[in-house]
Amino acid sequence: MTQERISLLNGKHIVLGVTGSIAAYKAADLASKLTQAGALVDTILTGAAQRFVTPLTFQALTGRPAYTSMWESAEGLPAHIPHIGLGEGADLMIIAPATAHTIARLAHGLADDLLAVTALAARCPLIVAPAMDGAMYAHPATQANLAALVAHGVHVIVPDEGRFASGLEGRGRLPEVPVLLGHIRRLLGRGGPLAGRQVIVTAGGTRERLDPVRHLTNRSSGKQGYALAQAALDAGADVVLISAAQHLTPPVGAQVIAVESAEEMRAAVLDAADAADALIMAAAVADFKPAQAAAQKIKKGDDPDAALTLTLARTPDILLDVKARRAQTGRPRVVIGFAAESENLLANAREKLARKGLDLIVANDISAPDAGFEVDTNRVTLLDAQGGQQPYELASKAAVAEIVIGWLARAVS
Ligand code: C5P
Repeated sequence: MTQERISLLNGKHIVLGVTGSIAAYKAADLASKLTQAGALVDTILTGAAQRFVTPLTFQALTGRPAYTSMWESAEGLPAHIPHIGLGEGADLMIIAPATAHTIARLAHGLADDLLAVTALAARCPLIVAPAMDGAMYAHPATQANLAALVAHGVHVIVPDEGRFASGLEGRGRLPEVPVLLGHIRRLLGRGGPLAGRQVIVTAGGTRERLDPVRHLTNRSSGKQGYALAQAALDAGADVVLISAAQHLTPPVGAQVIAVESAEEMRAAVLDAADAADALIMAAAVADFKPAQAAAQKIKKGDDPDAALTLTLARTPDILLDVKARRAQTGRPRVVIGFAAESENLLANAREKLARKGLDLIVANDISAPDAGFEVDTNRVTLLDAQGGQQPYELASKAAVAEIVIGWLARAVS
């Protein structure tokens, strides 16, 4: 899968340290994804790392030199000594995979190769992603070393559980690249325009129960909501993601509250609203639910001509309830809604903006095949409460999310 540019990563200097673990192949993919996202990646490989992957792998993927030795010359770096130069110019350093041995070296401040010296000299945030056999990871020595790193301000990623190359099972696997990227984004986003702000994002189509095996739902995938949660995290916000989406991996750093029905989503939103600076209602909330959910599976019976008539009842309108709550508490300070329309888009959106008491509505034309449900792109117009109206070209959902979060950052500043 190709990785599109990520504003937060664009032009950032990242030092990637690679140590001698079989998971080093994932570091090559990480270097590639970071580069595609717009980052400038300088790689340092330990001697053991070079038994698994070569400097050339990283040079080819990043288009930049890869370093292996303290003693080699490093042209073009801000200082004449490579380890100081690499760390000095960096926005972030990540060691992935980090072996038990390198973790021990870092914990004790040893400076016996280029990677260790650079980590010691760097003033930027440092992420360490351990990867090793389960018993090695669980060993008190490793745990004590990791605790020392955390005490030194290092961001340690907890490894995954699963199967090792040895065939054994346990905790110690390097997380997949999107997760590593998520941690990098979280750290780089700290201090962004939404730092210290609490943002609620709802996502996905709610599911309204019909009987124990069936429900009514809609075509919303939740992708736009998840992209909004990621963009808010990139801007430094604390994000509560209230999700009815089914098959999406939540962004690293979001507090996820899984819900099914409109009622559950309403309860979760109102619960979080009083502490929130902003609410972004990107979820496609069902307007109707079965008036009565059957306790047992509804049987079709023997008559092939029999019809089944369902009676539907209205679900609560969450935004109207938020409007009422907000009139008393003043929270959330900013509320953003979505309008997915197949006709009279702007008129309908403006009417909703007023009726639901919104500060901004994102109007989304779902009649076009390349925008709206399930696809990765959207064509939106932003309408604000002051009468402003801004149309945008077809863009990825990630780009649309950055536009909306940009607007929000200005609104809460
Ligand atoms: O009324 P309509 O569903 O078109 O409005 C869309 C906006 O209202 C979206 O932001 C959606 O999340 C929200 N909504 C809601 N509660 C409902 C239905 C929609 O908050 N029951």
